Amino acid sequence: MKPLAEMADAVLRTADGREKTALSRGFAAQWRAARAEGAEPRIGRADPPLHPARPATPELLSPRDVPRRRPGTPEGRIALLHAVAHIELNAVDLHWDIIARFAHVKMPIGYYDDWVKAADEESKHFNLMCDCLEAAGSHYGALPAHAGMWRAAEDTVDDFMGRLAVVPMVLEARGLDVTPGMIEIFKRAKDTGAVDALETIYAEEVHHVAYGSKWFHFLCGRHDLDPTVQFHSLVRQYFHGALKPPFNEEKRAEAGIPPDFYWPLAQNG
Ligand SMILES: [Fe+2]
Ligand SMILES: [Fe+2]
Repeated sequence: MKPLAEMADAVLRTADGREKTALSRGFAAQWRAARAEGAEPRIGRADPPLHPARPATPELLSPRDVPRRRPGTPEGRIALLHAVAHIELNAVDLHWDIIARFAHVKMPIGYYDDWVKAADEESKHFNLMCDCLEAAGSHYGALPAHAGMWRAAEDTVDDFMGRLAVVPMVLEARGLDVTPGMIEIFKRAKDTGAVDALETIYAEEVHHVAYGSKWFHFLCGRHDLDPTVQFHSLVRQYFHGALKPPFNEEKRAEAGIPPDFYWPLAQNG
């Protein structure tokens, strides 16, 4: 079995979405099997690319140039599934990137268990969204997608705590806020396939946010820092713009993100 950082690097360098997720799930299965036998596999080192390899399509556009479609129409729902597929593919790379990029920082083995599991789940989420798109006669790559999803990774390329604050604790926590509304849209359209897929995503994303909070607090403890103060300062440094209410306070609490973390960063009114 390859050292974990090299596995992460190989996923990041695979362009095709389905190939990337197949490799990701295969590596996660190897890791799980080794851990189930009580092994502590090697983490090693890698030199991951600044931008992960991506397929030729979708075309990546600035968010203001991505056409908006109404969710009340079949085309609007396809656009929504496509946007989620794009987020999930980015999430696969983000979870492997945090492993590879910060492999030089000594962390407990449970830290790697968490991100390998999260990367495996994101790979499943991407495949679920691709299945839904294909069932609706479309596919990932058929529509343009947001450029700039990798911005948070670039901005925090050498700030481990900044990465934890912005990616799982801000971006993935935002997913908890918006997913219930999306599930409602597909319920109204009686698309049970998409409802089931989104409910799986919603249930598993709570854990990714929780892993972020857990390891952020761990590092604050290691460096004797106040977690709330540190979180505010890192999000202000690396996240562009205010956080948007309404917040899913219940799920955020379940994931270990208390209100005094996010309310002070919210836009007024
Ligand atoms: Fe996901
Ligand atoms: Fe996630």
